[in-house]
Amino acid sequence: MDKYATPQISDRVYALGATDWKRRVFDALAPTPIGTTYNGYLVKGDNKTALIDTIHPDFRDEYFGKIEQLLGSTPVDYVIMNHAEPDHAGAIPDVLDKFAATLITTKKGAELAGLYYNVPQDRIRIVKEGDSVDLGGKTLTFHPSPFIHWPETMLTYLPENKLLFSCDFFAAHNTSGLFDDEADDVILWAKKYYGEIMMPLAKMGRMAMDKIRKLDVEMIAPSHGPVYRHPETILAEYTRWTNQMTKPKALIVYVSMYKHTERMVEVFVEILRNKGIEIRVFDMVGTEPGELAEHLVDTRALVLASPTVLGAMHPLIQYAGIMIKTFKPPLKYGMFINSYGWGKSASAHGAEFFDSAKIENVGIIEVNAAPGEEDNQNLREAAAVLADKILADT
Ligand code: FEO
Repeated sequence: MDKYATPQISDRVYALGATDWKRRVFDALAPTPIGTTYNGYLVKGDNKTALIDTIHPDFRDEYFGKIEQLLGSTPVDYVIMNHAEPDHAGAIPDVLDKFAATLITTKKGAELAGLYYNVPQDRIRIVKEGDSVDLGGKTLTFHPSPFIHWPETMLTYLPENKLLFSCDFFAAHNTSGLFDDEADDVILWAKKYYGEIMMPLAKMGRMAMDKIRKLDVEMIAPSHGPVYRHPETILAEYTRWTNQMTKPKALIVYVSMYKHTERMVEVFVEILRNKGIEIRVFDMVGTEPGELAEHLVDTRALVLASPTVLGAMHPLIQYAGIMIKTFKPPLKYGMFINSYGWGKSASAHGAEFFDSAKIENVGIIEVNAAPGEEDNQNLREAAAVLADKILADT
């Protein structure tokens, strides 16, 4: 029995990836509660063999064991670097040491391969849109897609198999199965990943989707998570996400010190719910800001709720605000609700946040200490105004 699992995912295409069961956070930002996978692939032509990306360097021994198991003494001829981040490109120096292979990447990729991995430029072949390499009965065509993620990012297509190697595009930190039809919560995990990584660059993602639509894609092999052998669903979701289509949905992000702000949030929740708005509520005490990314992908409105602390929004709300701006979500409408003691200045900061995040400021509600009946009525009316804005957009 073979030592390693090297499943054939398509004719003469093998998965070489590793599962990092223990990893609990990615980019020091995104929660990965069930770990992640680092997917690499091997394509065997009649004459030549190519690796599609490599592996996180922590898994290099396993990776080389898999290559040897599949190839024996046959060499690797090409390494395709779709993306230069170390979780996929980190083993490139080892591969180039072991094999007299050529690294294929974009012009920017060549620069980053030199910078990160000291790859000599004479080991690199630079490709541009539509270039290809013939492996003998298998062809790899290259489609640079800068800034769908990093500037060097490229998609690689194998027309004989109608297979797209998409690197981080369509990826997911999902360790629950090799194929989409074997894995759990495929779209949920993909949406989290999109929110964390791809959402800030949605315009470039749209351009990549236009490019992908012109290819005849029956399988997508990304760099994390399951291989899509039924790619229609993820393609449809990515079309919606990259087009920044939002739902009648509101995200309520709050912190409460004496439950005054929380009581204000509760009024909002009731009204928005009664108006048929889908809502998600996050108390930032105990919420990792990375958890917000998934919900920002298709949410139309944001309610920020904070007490005043030393003349500003609570630091956890400031932090959440920084994260939300970083993710560049398609939020359209915002409302700030605030409970203050002796100073109102947090509200000015709330307004500044919406301005700088290019979110329409629908209103600011301030309450001195605990909300009374008149305050609650103001909150109900404000929530109704926000709900009408959200619904008018559908
Ligand atoms: Fe999975 Fe951008 O590296």
